[in-house]
Amino acid sequence: MADLSTTVDGLKLPNPFVIGSGPPGTNANVIGKAFDEGWGAVICKTVSLDASKVINVQPRYARLRTADSKEIIGWENIELISDRPFETWIDEFKQIKDKYPDRVLIASIMEEYREEAWSEIIDRCQQAGVDAFECNFSCPHGLPERRMGSAMGENPEILSEVCSWVMKAAKVPVWAKMTPNVTHIEDPSRAALAAGCQGISAINTIRSVIGVNLGTLRPEPTVEGYTTMGGYSCKAVLPVALRMCMEVAKLIKDEFPGRSISGIGGVESGNDAVQFILLGANTVQVCTYVMKVGYRCVHQMLEEMSAFMDQHGFNSLDDFRGHSLQYFTTHHDLVERQAAARAAAKAESQAIRADAEWRGDDFVKQTDELSRG
Ligand SMILES: Cc1cc2nc3c(=O)[nH]c(=O)nc-3n(C[C@H](O)[C@H](O)[C@H](O)COP(=O)(O)O)c2cc1C
Repeated sequence: MADLSTTVDGLKLPNPFVIGSGPPGTNANVIGKAFDEGWGAVICKTVSLDASKVINVQPRYARLRTADSKEIIGWENIELISDRPFETWIDEFKQIKDKYPDRVLIASIMEEYREEAWSEIIDRCQQAGVDAFECNFSCPHGLPERRMGSAMGENPEILSEVCSWVMKAAKVPVWAKMTPNVTHIEDPSRAALAAGCQGISAINTIRSVIGVNLGTLRPEPTVEGYTTMGGYSCKAVLPVALRMCMEVAKLIKDEFPGRSISGIGGVESGNDAVQFILLGANTVQVCTYVMKVGYRCVHQMLEEMSAFMDQHGFNSLDDFRGHSLQYFTTHHDLVERQAAARAAAKAESQAIRADAEWRGDDFVKQTDELSRG
């Protein structure tokens, strides 16, 4: 069986499947469940120093289903970062690391635009034993009002400054989590990598309005008759996430060789995850699908990835990481390639019109060609 283990930025993971920040990593109990089921690493729900400022509403999710099978393909949330006290989180980080010393626990962190706040949160999480950080520069709702989350991630200049504060304080690897709500994801990614972050996580949710209820005429999810702009995730975002993974991978290849990518968005199977790795990802995160079906889905994902690797004779993830990046080119180049292929086919078909070119082994193909003129 293929070896799915991987070492990323010095972190040793039994497999590349990582619980993405959100409800599936919301406390020590569920993080333990994820490790027990075999997830390669867990990123906790984003924590901040002062949870009293984080006030959630209900309902905070709305789902998009297909018309026929009612399958959930899109998911909008207006959920904020964790509203659990920071002290509780610190205790739980310690408990998790005591119980699972060999497993990788990544703290997702977010703070205000102040260096002291970032160094304090990093120091305290490090003392509690977390293995790495993912900086949430990408939450699209609520916190931008406090210049947090995507307010930072959409602005490469601010990002560069904040990442340099983070890198001054961090003694463990740091991944910068990007928002997809920008024109060129390369710009904020470059700022974070130039400031020294080891990796890029992409993508967080896409700013969305999931729909308007035609009975009440109110947009959803409706809270006391109103809503606010939300973040879109689930199967429907996979193509956007793959495109952004490809763009970040090209940036890393050209300008920051050796840095890592954690691909996120719409992963529901081992084959979805394989596609992120083919486009340069080192690890692949799953959030919404775990909310749909539970933690056990990792078993099937592992089987599917392993079957893919056996089918192609790949022994390790390195054997196919980034393989498909070489097949992206410009539209202009596609036109030229197609013209060249057509010219070559035409030349071949003209060549067999000469009697001297008839061959016994290809006789039927040649007569067939001539039938098409
Ligand atoms: C309900 C919900 C809550 C989320 N909370 C966080 C969060 O606290 N921090 C964060 O970085 N991302 C958060 N995310 C974003 C996910 O980690 C992920 O980037 C995004 O949902 C796309 O992946 P998916 O399609 O596998 O869910 C949340 C997503 C959902 C659906």
